[in-house]
Amino acid sequence: MHLLILYGSLTGNTLLVSEHMHAFLTKRGHAVDLVDQSFCEFETLNAYDFVLIGASTWGEGDPNPATQVFIEQLDALERIEMKRVALFGLGDSAYEHFCGVVDKLESSLARKQIVLCAPSLRLDGFPDEVMCDKVDAWLDRDILPQLYTIAELPLADSSTSDA
Ligand SMILES: Cc1cc2nc3c(=O)[nH]c(=O)nc-3n(C[C@H](O)[C@H](O)[C@H](O)COP(=O)(O)O)c2cc1C
Repeated sequence: MHLLILYGSLTGNTLLVSEHMHAFLTKRGHAVDLVDQSFCEFETLNAYDFVLIGASTWGEGDPNPATQVFIEQLDALERIEMKRVALFGLGDSAYEHFCGVVDKLESSLARKQIVLCAPSLRLDGFPDEVMCDKVDAWLDRDILPQLYTIAELPLADSSTSDA
């Protein structure tokens, strides 16, 4: 499987979680690209089997600067295609709009008729061992089973066309 982790991070926490996900998925045999949302090439996204979009919240429920630009560019596109997408966000539940950026990304993607493949993961606090365990559990429960299903699709397709 070819996956993309597309992250937006101001002080590095979301990047740390993205790197953790990269290691986790690579260890399970997947090819994973890790790209800053500032350098997102939208026309390449549909080439990936799965795109994991991660972002941190700043201000009062606002996106970090890279994700702000990413959302503006996404909103300006007439059309975008991605095969499978899931979201994760970092925030702090002491703030009123906990992980507000995840809600904003969900809305932007919904306006483009992109349906998320998994419940979005909202992470509270700093990327420590406890947070990494939550990330691993989400990947194990909500993402990896889909990758195994995708891997089986070509077999199912060829048996259908032979029939
Ligand atoms: C000034 C400031 C404002 C913040 N505002 C929010 C917020 O509105 N909602 C939230 O969930 N987290 C908020 N946070 C917490 C950050 O999202 C959190 O520290 C996150 O881990 C930063 O990730 P990053 O280093 O990838 O940018 C804020 C943090 C700071 C310092």
